[in-house]
Amino acid sequence: MPSKKRKIHIFDTTLRDGEQSPGASLTPEEKLKIAKQLERLNVDVIEAGFPASSPGELKAVQMISEAVRKPIICGLSRMMPKDIDACRRALEKAKKKRLHVFLATSQIHRQYKLRKDKREILQMAVQNIKAAKKDFKQIEFSPEDASRTEPSFLVAATRAAIDAGATSINIPDTVGYTVPQEFECLIRYLIKKVPELGKKVVLSVHCHNDLGLASANSLAAILAGANQVECTINGIGERAGNASMEEIVMAIDTRKDFVDCYTDIRLREIVKTSRLVSHLTGMVVQPNKAIVGRNAFSHESGIHQDGVLKKRQTYEIIDPKRIGLSGSQLILGKLSGRHAFKERVEKLGFHLSEQEVGKSFERFKMLADKKKYVFDEDIEAILEDEIGHIPETWKLEYLKVITESGQSPVANVRLRSQGRNFEAHSEGDGPVDACYKALEQIVKSGAQLAHYGIQSVTSGKDAQGEVVVKLLVGGREVAGRGTSTDIIEASVKAYLFALNKISTRFFPKETGEPSPV
Ligand code: KIV
Ligand code: ZN
Repeated sequence: MPSKKRKIHIFDTTLRDGEQSPGASLTPEEKLKIAKQLERLNVDVIEAGFPASSPGELKAVQMISEAVRKPIICGLSRMMPKDIDACRRALEKAKKKRLHVFLATSQIHRQYKLRKDKREILQMAVQNIKAAKKDFKQIEFSPEDASRTEPSFLVAATRAAIDAGATSINIPDTVGYTVPQEFECLIRYLIKKVPELGKKVVLSVHCHNDLGLASANSLAAILAGANQVECTINGIGERAGNASMEEIVMAIDTRKDFVDCYTDIRLREIVKTSRLVSHLTGMVVQPNKAIVGRNAFSHESGIHQDGVLKKRQTYEIIDPKRIGLSGSQLILGKLSGRHAFKERVEKLGFHLSEQEVGKSFERFKMLADKKKYVFDEDIEAILEDEIGHIPETWKLEYLKVITESGQSPVANVRLRSQGRNFEAHSEGDGPVDACYKALEQIVKSGAQLAHYGIQSVTSGKDAQGEVVVKLLVGGREVAGRGTSTDIIEASVKAYLFALNKISTRFFPKETGEPSPV
């Protein structure tokens, strides 16, 4: 990395501000799983939680502090001894730790929330930072609602915090109120008044997305001299969320010609991290979300498809493989040509002769005339018909799922393969999760569930449920579909169908034992 480029530190707050998203609560074990993935992603700081807020939260921060050694582990605290002490206990075992204290500075917060004047605010900050210094070398101070604070008072609060021992100053746009040009001016003004910011003292920004400007505001601050951004995976967070990590990191990377900065993020881990966070928080990523949305690399127009196939960069500014996707997605429809069709067929793992391609393409065109979009599953159905069925390497013999209120569901699964039975049982977060864990115990495919969708295909009480799953294995996506009047069984059938395709298509076995696909 050329030395003149500035490093931007990535402070990930998915496990703290992100978890403040309505409905996104995580168990300590789930938080640990995400923290380990954030470590693989190579973030610089993980804000693991707010230890004083509950015993579970304290435990989660303790677990992360013990197990995650590379990034700095940070705990959030109000400006009060009891909170700081909870952080001290939670971070005791951390290899590298940081205390993050916040106190509101804006006029509206001072008057209505805190009922304190400017002098009292400064006093409170200085006293607590000084006292915390005996336990923490790294202390970050956030003047909450900074973007609505009088700039001169923001300078006074920043100066006082640094003199008391703060090593990072974070400027939050707590209510997502600022706009890029204004925020850039504010950051430049702060650096002018407090020159150690962005140098000896880390200058961080923390933007919320109430006006949809969180990433743009963060980038404006970086251009003005900030050297740390606080962000979350998928942009989750309080209300409309926080600045999205993947957007900021990819903006810096894609526009390095203009931004002249870099991050240490391992780009290939981005999609995996996004899917893990979405899966564990239950917060679905909107399809058109930049970078990690399902449609972010999908091209529907025939003109765009043709362009991408000739030269990807005609309509794509990021190579999807760089962030861990298998490649661009052309949404096939009646405008798609043989070139796009053949390319998709190969990506799905089928190797056809020219004659087979020709026959399948004719059937595809007929279907595309009737249907606006032709999905991978439709193409697979055509191909399986043309070139033969998928052998059932793994067959479901028996399934029992017990769900009881207050208890984790338990699934017992028996599969048959090459004349032998394989059995497993597992708990899970839900009945489907329990079944999938049991299946994985047997098959050990290492596949990740990239998509799960369910719909009813008939009506009435005994409606058939249809489940479609997409599994990601070895960088390839494979779809599976299952139907049953029992949606759990439909879910298992869909997963098994995908596994059978994987075994047959990508890893055909001539003889012998069934082995992991
Ligand atoms: O949005 C905010 O102001 C915060 C602070 C605690 C940094 O989350
Ligand atoms: Zn926040």
